Amino acid sequence: MLLHSLIYVSESMISLAADEEQVNAIVEVSRNRNRALGVTGALMFTHSNFVQVLEGAQSALDELMTSIRRDSRHRNIAILEEEALVSRRFATWSMAYVGPAALVESRLAPLVRKDDHGVDPFATQEMISLLRSLVALSE
Ligand SMILES: Cc1cc2nc3c(=O)[nH]c(=O)nc-3n(C[C@H](O)[C@H](O)[C@H](O)COP(=O)(O)O)c2cc1C
Repeated sequence: MLLHSLIYVSESMISLAADEEQVNAIVEVSRNRNRALGVTGALMFTHSNFVQVLEGAQSALDELMTSIRRDSRHRNIAILEEEALVSRRFATWSMAYVGPAALVESRLAPLVRKDDHGVDPFATQEMISLLRSLVALSE
């Protein structure tokens, strides 16, 4: 199977008061459905934004992104990068979750910049590396 990976950032529409519960619900649904689709990845939440990495067959990613794009719990989904993968980076995780993390907030800034220069691919790769480290710490 050819592996593809996609990373996006979006703006959370979840109210602060109920965010933990709501994000847990997203993670639970995601783990079941992603496992069934052979998709692995990681989701990070910072109160204001989501960052998600998905990896698997292109058809599975397309199917998931159709659902994710119409989900009103977030908006302004910006795809940072799509690429072919040789091997999975989150192989043991149907959806690893990294909760509100101050460490991550500062790294998010260059990924949500709305200027003419677009997103820095280096910052995107750094974010994927940071997510991998945080996920590995929680294993
Ligand atoms: C930030 C965010 C990330 C999500 N990630 C996933 C995911 O990885 N897998 C998944 O099955 N659903 C994910 N969801 C939930 C889907 O949007 C959707 O509610 C769910 O898959 C059910 O699909 P349906 O609405 O087409 O029935 C996510 C939702 C949000 C807001």
